[in-house]
Amino acid sequence: MNNIRKVTNDLYWIGASDRRLALFENVLPVPRGVSYNNYLLLDEKTCLFDTSDAAVHQQFFENLAAALGGRKLDYLVIHHMEPDHAAQLDDLLLRYPEVTIVTNNKVVTMIGQFFDLDLEGRVQLVNEGGTLSTGRRTLHFVNAPMVHWPEVMMSYDDCDKVLFSADAFGTFGALNGNIFADEVNFATEWMDEARRYYSNIVGKYGVQVQMALKKAAAFDIQTICPLHGPVWRSDLALFLDKYDKWSRYEPEERAVMVVYGSMYGHTESAADALATMLAERGVRNIAMYDVSRTDVSVLVSEAFRVSHIVVAAPTYNNNVYTPAENFLNELRIHNLQNRTYALVENGTWAAQSGKGMRAIIEQMKDSKVLEPVLSIKSAMKPAQTEQAQALADAIVADLNA
Ligand code: FEO
Repeated sequence: MNNIRKVTNDLYWIGASDRRLALFENVLPVPRGVSYNNYLLLDEKTCLFDTSDAAVHQQFFENLAAALGGRKLDYLVIHHMEPDHAAQLDDLLLRYPEVTIVTNNKVVTMIGQFFDLDLEGRVQLVNEGGTLSTGRRTLHFVNAPMVHWPEVMMSYDDCDKVLFSADAFGTFGALNGNIFADEVNFATEWMDEARRYYSNIVGKYGVQVQMALKKAAAFDIQTICPLHGPVWRSDLALFLDKYDKWSRYEPEERAVMVVYGSMYGHTESAADALATMLAERGVRNIAMYDVSRTDVSVLVSEAFRVSHIVVAAPTYNNNVYTPAENFLNELRIHNLQNRTYALVENGTWAAQSGKGMRAIIEQMKDSKVLEPVLSIKSAMKPAQTEQAQALADAIVADLNA
């Protein structure tokens, strides 16, 4: 059965959700599933925006056929070649042999890498600033490299003022009948997953996201149609503001997260003691995570949200406790900047984790480590209360600066 929905005049959402997938890109947990959005424009010409993931093959083609209602498919715009949006390309060309692919030359190169297809006479190239008339409306194309691959482009319908934003403005989470952001409690129930999607997928490419936002600002946008998650047709400023902050690596909140690694509970106890001192100094909504039990994608997302990051880690193999080291390296790899860190190290005979953590943090732009580093031997003792209080004071002073 089809599950298509009307978005604007002549434009239909014909996507599908995967609620069985455990790991997106085989690495990021998606406990609420994920949607793969497709859109079909029924102008004087028909135009499909992207294909879909292999997992939703059946629903995708059923929706497409239903939305076409017997009309032929004239155009396929390909914004992005990652297989979660492009896996059905070969099958689509078999089923709709008259379709013309409208895309840029980087996409064409990638089609050749993923598929063995004869594209002779089947491609209409459009590059930066290119247009396509579908009859009553003109589509305008702009490149958005590295949001989230180098070939990505976006398109804009100047009649209904719709931006097809590719991966940008997407979120994890299956769509459950409600395909519009204003049909769900997005700010309270979806934003965490939107942040986790953004930070882990395009968080590294803040500069490029800023460039794409500047290009999009040239359009009068009333609707945003992303490739994942809800469609935006109201209160666009809410999400645009988040994207602006995230891509400038500006914390959403002056807030503290505490990430600890602990083999036998002693480093956890020290982290708890420090969090208690912070709370007694008025810090609210402290977020605390066991690095061994929390998926690192959640920790990356939280690090994009907060301004201050406390990391407490034992020494392990004369270095940083592996999951804590992995957490910090993930922040570095995702290009996180402009954060303040406080460190707690533990070592029964030679504490080395503080040195190792600092070495990773020093590679992150505009990031600093507060003093003192709280160094404990096996277990924190009352004699170290003063040192811990000094660190809590330093965190609070910086938080309120
Ligand atoms: Fe949703 Fe980069 O693919």
